[in-house]
Amino acid sequence: MRLGILTGGGDCPGLNAVIRAVVRKSLELGYEILGIKYGWRGLLEMETLPLDRRAVSGILHRGGTILGTSRTNPLGVPNGLQRIAENSRKLGLDVLVAVGGDDTLGVAAKLAELGVRIIGVPKTIDNDLQCTDYTFGFNTAMTIVAEALDRLHSTAEAHDRVFVIEVMGRDAGWIATYGGLAGGADYILIPEKSFTLEEVCESIQRRHAQGKHFSLIVVAEGAISEELKKPILQSEKKDAFGHLRLGGIGEVLAKEIEERTGFETRSVVLGHLQRGGAPTPYDRILATLYGVKAVELAQQGRSGVMVALQGNQIVAVELAKCVASAKTVDMEIYKMAQTFFG
Ligand code: F6P
Repeated sequence: MRLGILTGGGDCPGLNAVIRAVVRKSLELGYEILGIKYGWRGLLEMETLPLDRRAVSGILHRGGTILGTSRTNPLGVPNGLQRIAENSRKLGLDVLVAVGGDDTLGVAAKLAELGVRIIGVPKTIDNDLQCTDYTFGFNTAMTIVAEALDRLHSTAEAHDRVFVIEVMGRDAGWIATYGGLAGGADYILIPEKSFTLEEVCESIQRRHAQGKHFSLIVVAEGAISEELKKPILQSEKKDAFGHLRLGGIGEVLAKEIEERTGFETRSVVLGHLQRGGAPTPYDRILATLYGVKAVELAQQGRSGVMVALQGNQIVAVELAKCVASAKTVDMEIYKMAQTFFG
């Protein structure tokens, strides 16, 4: 059997760990494995990278992806899906392992319907894919947020300042909620729950009245205030999947807080620091379990499924189900986090 593997969408810590696991398991079973470069673009343009044991040596702990990635959307390219199906045949691929988030796996689900044998692996720091408890990359991102909060805590306290920390999370506030909880945030703002500037300011004022003269506010880039009614954009430009580039809510909030409360306020955007660098040991293991399971599913003749973590089991779930909608933050967890707000 000959497998292909590609990584699509935004990069995410643990991609190389999946590639390594897929290659090592394939070789153990006597399969051939071909790397496809730059996500779907590589299958449209036939850009490939031969993978063997040597190619994946020493990459477990490395961020990024040795295959490269892109946000190329075959659905926006004339006959894109058909071209990919045909090129997969030309490359002699029996099964394709697609490592990606909702965009990449949405395309994978459509290809599976066309008869391309395909296994999905859930990747995104946002953790917003259905059917799996966690995507790999999320643990690293929230750890980075927690570490940043630890550092900002001491400088905020030293200067009696408010800090607004903007984190990633377009449609779902998993990184904000978990990173904020782990880092002891005094308020967390997420896309799932609209908020008023007044409630945020009141909460900071309550803390001050209790003798705490600094505060850390975590805000997901996609959070929307009732006053502004729409997300803050960095640019009106859309990517190939129609996503607007978000960014700026942290600075907007910081200005409003300073004006309304009179407390000196700074904003920090963590941005792509949340995606770069080495994966945590948890993500290395999750990515490895996913990669091995993907090859086992290929061996069993499965297709149109995604590997997923459910409880402590790695299982296979229908790809179409996983990409039907975004997995938003469990409001029970958010309510629990509110216990620690100012
Ligand atoms: O989907 C992952 C993610 O990191 C989002 O949280 C963020 O909105 C987006 O990618 C930004 O990606 P880029 O800057 O690569 O377009």
